[in-house]
Order: sequence, then C-alpha cells, then structure tokens
Amino acid sequence: MKKIIENESRICFLSLSRNEAFARSAAAAFAAQSDPTVEQIAAIKTAVSEAVTNAIVHGYRNTRGTIEMTLRLYSENRLYISIKDKGRGIPDISQAMQPMFSTAPAEEERSGLGFTVMESFMDKIRVISRTDKGTTVIMEKQLDKR
Ligand SMILES: Nc1ncnc2c1ncn2[C@@H]1O[C@H](COP(=O)(O)OP(=O)(O)O)[C@@H](O)[C@H]1O
Ligand SMILES: [Mg+2]
Repeated sequence: MKKIIENESRICFLSLSRNEAFARSAAAAFAAQSDPTVEQIAAIKTAVSEAVTNAIVHGYRNTRGTIEMTLRLYSENRLYISIKDKGRGIPDISQAMQPMFSTAPAEEERSGLGFTVMESFMDKIRVISRTDKGTTVIMEKQLDKR
C-alpha cells in the first residue's frame, strides 16, 4: 500500500537534557490531532524520551550538537517519528539493541533498556547509523482509526 503523508513537522533543537521534555511534548502535541488514547500518548512520549536521551548522552557524549525530530502522520492514522543526530554513531547496531547492553560508564547507571523500551511501546523501530556520521532512529505506531 502506498503511504500518503497527511501531515508533517520537523523540529531541530540542541542536545541539552532540558530539550527532552520539549521533544516529548512536541511529539505528543503533534499526535494529538489523531485523538490518541492516554496510553498511546504515554507510549509516544516514553519512546521519544529514550531516543532523544540517547542522542544527547551517547551520540553527542562530551560534545553538543543538533537533533532533528521529524513527525509525520500517514494515511490510516499511522504515526512516524524519526530522531536524528550527527554524533558518534553506533558501530554494531544489533549489539546496541540487545536488552541490558550499554556503553555508558557504570557511574551513570544506565539500564541498557532504552531500545527495548522503544520497541515495546512502538510498533516498529529501525536504526540507521554510521560511525562518526550519526544515528537515525525511526519509529512507527498505528493509532486508532477515527
Ligand atoms: N544516538 C546514539 N548514538 C550513539 N550511540 C547510541 C545512540 N543510541 C544508542 N546508542 C548506543 O546503544 C546503547 C544502548 O542504548 P539503550 O538501549 O538506550 O541503553 P542505554 O542508553 O541505557 O545505554 C548505548 O549504550 C549506546 O552505546
Ligand atoms: Mg538509552
């Protein structure tokens, strides 16, 4: 089936932890046009938080850069969210996506469950990454049809 874009928004922001709340609220506000349930909004916010946190703490570790979030609504109420950084990239994507895998130093106490959380809250997740070029996380979720 051909995907038709019904609406699109693109937001760029600096990799500051205070922008996590901004990004997840923006994603929730965009999704609101589809009359999502409270559970769906919570899922979208959680998944966006995880992906944006990863861009900040892993992609731009010890540096600062720009994060681009694209929000799309496809026909049939399919929500698409991509979160892109131009940071250090992921050398082995399938390893990075394993539950409990983390490259963060122990004192940061990261769970290594970010990708697992994104996968469980969204229908589909795809990661594109190149070392020293950056990472894009694409997530999709089917919202209820009106
Ligand atoms: N945007 C990113 N840029 C670089 N590395 C990333 C990015 N997102 C995730 N990673 C890598 O994938 C690993 C797993 O991510 P995640 O499941 O969220 O666990 P955690 O963030 O707790 O380490 C991270 O430790 C990191 O090595
Ligand atoms: Mg994480």
